[in-house]
Amino acid sequence: MPKMVFGGSYSKELAKKIAKKLRCPYGEVIKDYFPDGETRLKLNKSPKGKQIIYVNSGNPNPNDSLIESIFSIKTLKEHGAKKVIFVVPYMYYLRQDKHFEKLDCQSNKIMAELLKVADKVITIDGHIHRIKSLKDIFKIPAKNLTSNPVLTEYIKKHYKNEVIIGPDWESYQWAEDIAKHLGVKVNVLKKTRYSSHKVKVEMRTKMDLKGKNVVIVDDVISTGRTIVGAARIMKRMGAKKIYAVCVHGLFAEDSLKHLSKYVDKVVCTNTIISKVNKKNRKIDVSGLIAENV
Ligand code: R5P
Repeated sequence: MPKMVFGGSYSKELAKKIAKKLRCPYGEVIKDYFPDGETRLKLNKSPKGKQIIYVNSGNPNPNDSLIESIFSIKTLKEHGAKKVIFVVPYMYYLRQDKHFEKLDCQSNKIMAELLKVADKVITIDGHIHRIKSLKDIFKIPAKNLTSNPVLTEYIKKHYKNEVIIGPDWESYQWAEDIAKHLGVKVNVLKKTRYSSHKVKVEMRTKMDLKGKNVVIVDDVISTGRTIVGAARIMKRMGAKKIYAVCVHGLFAEDSLKHLSKYVDKVVCTNTIISKVNKKNRKIDVSGLIAENV
């Protein structure tokens, strides 16, 4: 079946790159709003008879993106797409993976239920901590890709004499694997989160950081408090330069200002359009996606 890539409003550039890598046609879902705020969508090309790879990330406006994506997938099918693979480079709502408080909404399951309109979903480094795999919440085929190979390549090319730091236990999935492939030392720290903006980070296994370049790797940077907590320890321990590399740069609120006080450079992938990757400080995931659709 011939393939065609469609870009949603949150991932146009990335979708174009994927189409180029797959050497297949590119179309867009044009978005506008009705005067009352409802989303208005229109395809700029026909998807008839094709297998569509529809790309739309879940940030910076997750709710808007979710509605846009559900409507777009249904529209692509209505207009003749044979199959729609939904690539959501940053998948929203995965962090609400339990009832944190009494009578809470567990949104990861509801989000997965809503995305049943697609034939398959693919994401990158989805926040899978309390579930074993996306298959636990999705009823359609769901694939979670890791960006570790592209992060490793970036670090190898840009930084020397480094130590890899994971700022909390969950980050071992990135930190340990990347350090193994680079053949460098790694230390995964302990984090206690008291609130969105208050975290305590501790180093339990001491290591010598004097004169070393430190690369802190994590899946997500939101408020930046996790990275800052780790960077403060690294600075106290005499690290030469401190870099932060993450997959999904959400950069909420004043996070970038806060990070700039402690971190020499922040880099993220292009799963989300952010202030950081607009400045060309990005790690491209289009090849990773193209190889897996
Ligand atoms: C948590 O488990 C994640 O891996 C990140 O460490 C976390 O989401 C980062 O959040 P923030 O930047 O707000 O500290």
